[in-house]
Amino acid sequence: MSRIAYVNGRYRPLDRATVNVEDRGLQFADGVYEVIKTIDGVPRDLERHLDRLERSLRELRIEAPVTRPALRQIIGRIVARSGLRSPNIYVQINRGAAPRNHPFPKGAKPSLIVVGRRAHRPAASDLERGVGVITLPDPRWARCDIKSVSLLPNVLARQHAAERGCREAWLLDRDGCITEGSTSNAYIVDRDLRVVTRDLGPELLGGVTRAVVLELAREAAIEVALRPFSVEEARAAREAFITSTSAMVLPVTTLDGRPIGDGRPGAVTLRLLNLYRARYGLPEHRAATS
Ligand code: PDD
Repeated sequence: MSRIAYVNGRYRPLDRATVNVEDRGLQFADGVYEVIKTIDGVPRDLERHLDRLERSLRELRIEAPVTRPALRQIIGRIVARSGLRSPNIYVQINRGAAPRNHPFPKGAKPSLIVVGRRAHRPAASDLERGVGVITLPDPRWARCDIKSVSLLPNVLARQHAAERGCREAWLLDRDGCITEGSTSNAYIVDRDLRVVTRDLGPELLGGVTRAVVLELAREAAIEVALRPFSVEEARAAREAFITSTSAMVLPVTTLDGRPIGDGRPGAVTLRLLNLYRARYGLPEHRAATS
């Protein structure tokens, strides 16, 4: 089955779907997006993603191009026609096409793109061994709570990480505290087995996976502290992990090349990872015994 994209009212084969070169998404990164996981054809946590999308649009004063029920319907069609069993759904809304000029154009119609993509779920070896993270100064703007397509700093940070054989870059604020990863939220587990992650604010994205994982932690009576944590604390942590729609819950076992804890995925992380997997009917991850 050929892959389908929805662009501004039309479903087209992916390789023939096009946008206007005057689209402000191209020229100013003037747009917002969401990545939504599906499992066996069903979008998961859809309402949380749509809430966040609407919030991003409100913050940037971009009008929604379609109603929420209409967007749900488009997403459903894209899932059905994607040719994939459990694609990630990518939704992007730009301020629209208009002659290039910085102020908001009058009368431009916001553009909507919806694509189904193969989900890159964590490899079994990454769950088994955990992944590496590097730290870098956070070079981003002051509104990282908006899921904007202006992702160049994130791209560069992730590239730095990849060049050092690492999965993610944790970004440091001026006080040496970690805001989040370039494409994920960041957590440590401290000496008292408390999960520590930064509280929500303009320095980080309110991850949908983060919200779900924090709920699961509370239900399981795992203690959570919502506060900034420093790179020194992270170095001394027992465990660490990241969360995102693609990574789900992914153990982190090295920080800037040094092992965290005993250098293996920790018990609290694995518990949350499996609570998360169970919520979506995914098979349990069993740690290999050594
Ligand atoms: N990334 N922080 C940043 C900067 C992100 O880009 C993401 C998601 C997250 C986690 O959010 P969520 O749990 O809602 O996926 C945190 C997506 C998946 C991406 O850019 O592909």
